[in-house]
Amino acid sequence: MLGEPLLRLEETDSTNRVALEWQDAPHGAAVVARSQTQGRGRLGRNWESAAGKGLYFSLILRVEVPDAPLYSLSSALGVTSALEKLTKLKCRVKWPNDVLCVSSDGEARKIGGILCEARGPQLVVGIGVNVNQNLEELPPRPVFPASSLALESGKTWEIDAVLSAIIRELNVVLPRLENHGWNDLRAEFENQCLGIGEVLRVKTGSETLIGTLESVDEKGALVLRTASGVRKVLAGEISYF
Ligand code: BTN
Repeated sequence: MLGEPLLRLEETDSTNRVALEWQDAPHGAAVVARSQTQGRGRLGRNWESAAGKGLYFSLILRVEVPDAPLYSLSSALGVTSALEKLTKLKCRVKWPNDVLCVSSDGEARKIGGILCEARGPQLVVGIGVNVNQNLEELPPRPVFPASSLALESGKTWEIDAVLSAIIRELNVVLPRLENHGWNDLRAEFENQCLGIGEVLRVKTGSETLIGTLESVDEKGALVLRTASGVRKVLAGEISYF
């Protein structure tokens, strides 16, 4: 059962750091904290982690093929599905690992993110969800502004209910990835992925590509049709839709 044993902490620097250093943790062990003092985001960014406002959770996986990108994409699918089922909000993934809510005005706002980190055979899936923050408590973001489940739904949520919903869904998607491979989840991921069929801009380490997002391939890469042909992007950031 993924999510057990669950180490509950009042405050820590980063649940990902604790999980990575928990070297004899069994497969499925997890860490959750009420607050983090140095929550880590992608690309070296900070993740705002005030007490009682968000979910700060890290799941430890000991898998035969610790393919971090595929575990990250599959976890993002699990988190969006869990949040949709719980809140009835429309939740989507912005490839690779942002969790967004699309409100009735069509505006997409970031409500969560996933940071996968590996140490040896141990893969840590770190999940942050903005649950009960109000606007002033969220960091400014130039595109896809930050939001929370409370702001999107107009009511507050028990953080433990959000955690249970996510653990339940990860117990469905991650065993599917392990037992049947990414191709088993790929179509569902594409359905939940923002921007398929649309023209977008993608920044890779060395260049900025503009093209139509056709699909996500068997390795989890974006398949972009650009003016100079089809390009595949395994690591990058979608900067503009
Ligand atoms: C992102 O940049 O979108 C990813 C954010 C991931 C934040 C979570 S909170 C729990 C876990 N511990 C961390 O330090 N980071 C992740």
